[in-house]
Amino acid sequence: MKILAIETTCDETAAAVVTSGPEVLSDIVYSQIKEHEPYGGVVPEIASRSHLEQLTCVIEDALKKAELTPADLDAVAVAHRPGLIGALLVGVTTAKALAWAWNLPLIGVHHLEAHLEAAFLAGEEIEHPYLGVVISGGHTDMHRVDGEGETRWLGGTRDDALGEAFDKVAAVMGLGYPGGPIVEKTALEGDPTAVKLPRTLLGEDSLDFSFSGIKTAVLYKWRGMNAVHKDKAPDAPSPEDLCASFQAAVFDVLAEKIRRASRQEDLHTVVLGGGVTANKTLRQGLADRLGPDYKLVFPPPRFTTDNAAMIGARALRQLARGDVADLELMAQAQP
Ligand code: KG4
Ligand code: ZN
Repeated sequence: MKILAIETTCDETAAAVVTSGPEVLSDIVYSQIKEHEPYGGVVPEIASRSHLEQLTCVIEDALKKAELTPADLDAVAVAHRPGLIGALLVGVTTAKALAWAWNLPLIGVHHLEAHLEAAFLAGEEIEHPYLGVVISGGHTDMHRVDGEGETRWLGGTRDDALGEAFDKVAAVMGLGYPGGPIVEKTALEGDPTAVKLPRTLLGEDSLDFSFSGIKTAVLYKWRGMNAVHKDKAPDAPSPEDLCASFQAAVFDVLAEKIRRASRQEDLHTVVLGGGVTANKTLRQGLADRLGPDYKLVFPPPRFTTDNAAMIGARALRQLARGDVADLELMAQAQP
């Protein structure tokens, strides 16, 4: 089976060809970061227009790199939810047009399920049941996964997603966009115990997250209580110490929530995915905090942030069980 997969949920225009295995034959990502950078975040209308300009070329590149023609394909897959509605519409409309023109089945993929599927691109088969943890720019969610299509949501963020918190912390300190990789790099030179920051754990058994409090705490450490200073306060900690302390706090929270969910559900395999799993300090930090009783499975680094290979890998499984859409497939902003 060879599937052309398309990803346009947010600010990456991506296409990939994936074959059974799963093996990635090509994987093209056009990142719009430079277009959104001046605004410090993704501007939905710019994202939609950029997808429109880039997607056809990105698809052509993916086919060329895989040395295939449309006649070699078995299906077209597209991430159709959740995401920015205008951005999704570009991918979904293109995928429908291609599936119709090439007379191929169309597969609608859930972007967050695909983030978890990315862990399987490391080549290891992971046995059910497991705890699935998505930590990305738009989502922080934990699921119990019992089998193919058998997923139960356990908890998620009540406000900011974890990646969003990284982005906002970087913005507060004027470090640049997107914040995740910059905060990680800056933190490497800092002391994670230097700055006291809150760990928001909510109720005793809660599996929900809240990252808005720590974001405000970082703002006050940087610009003084109630942000009285226009920029950095005279007694503010160094960016290195603040970034390292921020990471330590959010990794503590994440580890505790994983521990709680694992205990409640009696699960010890944890599959993680989403842009924040690109963070090497997080990978090591979770392993250190959770210890040897937990098997943590991360995607290969290049498949952590948005890409179409993970959409194709997910689509392969859906195709195998006949989970195929028709031309009525809708783009959907919500999960
Ligand atoms: O999964 P993704 O590409 O898009 C969404 O589905 O949201 O995730 C993007 C998010 C951004 O918030 C970005 O700052 C964060 O992932 N991110 C990181 C790192 N690399 C990307 N966060 C922490 N450390 C990183 N190294
Ligand atoms: Zn994503």
